[in-house]
Amino acid sequence: MTVVRQTAAETAAATGRRRASFHPLTVDEVRRLTDDAIEVKFGVPAGLSGQFDYLPGQYVALRTTLPDEQGEPHEIRRSYSICAEPRSFADGSSEIRVAIKKDLGGLFSTWANAELKSGDVLDVMSPMGAFVSKHGRDGKEQNLMNSMNHPEDLAGEPGSFVAIAAGSGITPVIAIARTLLAAHPDTRFDLVYANKAAMDVMFLEELADLKDKYPSRLALHHVLSREQRIAPLLSGRIDAGKLQALLGTAIQADQVDEWFLCGPFELVQLCRDTLAARGVKPEHIRFELFTSGKPDRPEGNIGRPVVPDESKETYKITFKLDGLQGEVASPTHARESILNAALRVRPDVPFACAGGVCGTCRAKVVAGAVTMDENYALEQDELDKGYVLTCQSHPTTPEVSVDFDV
Ligand code: FES
Repeated sequence: MTVVRQTAAETAAATGRRRASFHPLTVDEVRRLTDDAIEVKFGVPAGLSGQFDYLPGQYVALRTTLPDEQGEPHEIRRSYSICAEPRSFADGSSEIRVAIKKDLGGLFSTWANAELKSGDVLDVMSPMGAFVSKHGRDGKEQNLMNSMNHPEDLAGEPGSFVAIAAGSGITPVIAIARTLLAAHPDTRFDLVYANKAAMDVMFLEELADLKDKYPSRLALHHVLSREQRIAPLLSGRIDAGKLQALLGTAIQADQVDEWFLCGPFELVQLCRDTLAARGVKPEHIRFELFTSGKPDRPEGNIGRPVVPDESKETYKITFKLDGLQGEVASPTHARESILNAALRVRPDVPFACAGGVCGTCRAKVVAGAVTMDENYALEQDELDKGYVLTCQSHPTTPEVSVDFDV
């Protein structure tokens, strides 16, 4: 999947306040998962391991430069969920594995599926994201980071977990499922995994292996929209009726401790609404979105050139990043985002999706006011504290000051 959701505050709590930064990592292996999806393994040298600790369910942004339609070099960033549980080796090195599914018309994913190979180097951002289990952890998240090396550290509470994933939404979910099932011998995990056809199922073998390993604790429900399965419940699109039926039969919804929803906007929204109507509290639901559903312009307007005209009115935008103060003037008529303006003077301002989904560009408004277009990343309590997504925020007062460091 290409873009994920997080609340940056939760990420910070989970991983310690680590500023997202890019590091060049070498591709160790490219493995084909389906006709249009690959798994890419990056080696993380010992010296960088601390930068790449992660929790199962988090994501990394990848950055490279590719020719655009006019053949001009164009920087591209895409976010991909990490598909494996955390693992480190005796020499202190570790690895990051992501799955990249080819999006229709997707420049980066098409290039990666066709061209990316072992030995290539890409810029990889430190892992982020709050699509992680919070059940019974009580601040024990650090243990999850080394989960497979030290499963005994994971003796959290047993739980009953359900994930509903579609397509490449399986990517973070498989890492979460593996980790939670290993964490406690009484934990149960139900996975509803929707695809068009059997040939589209990513991690088919890995899921079967996981089922073999935990035959009584893992339930796999493959739902195929374009193939007839023996059980009518597992055939066709997941709509409101099918979801209600699944929750009434295959899954005992009232006994679930934590839900993980990962897929396109419509499916995630349908699941959230259905669960809310059944009385499931929002704090028991984690979700992550694909950008291909919403927002409409996942590319945002990053890189759109704005030439400040001294004769025209401007907003004065100041920002703090890594302890350094920056300032930029933004023409009022341009209605550019805070992020876009800030990038003109500081190319290291963090962002990934530029579409209001991932939360990488989060900052706190400390003076002035902004209006925000889309927000699929920040929770209400973060908004109440003044946090905004700078890729979606536009000044509404002559002077605005934001802080990326808090
Ligand atoms: S860069 Fe992803 S929400 Fe702003």
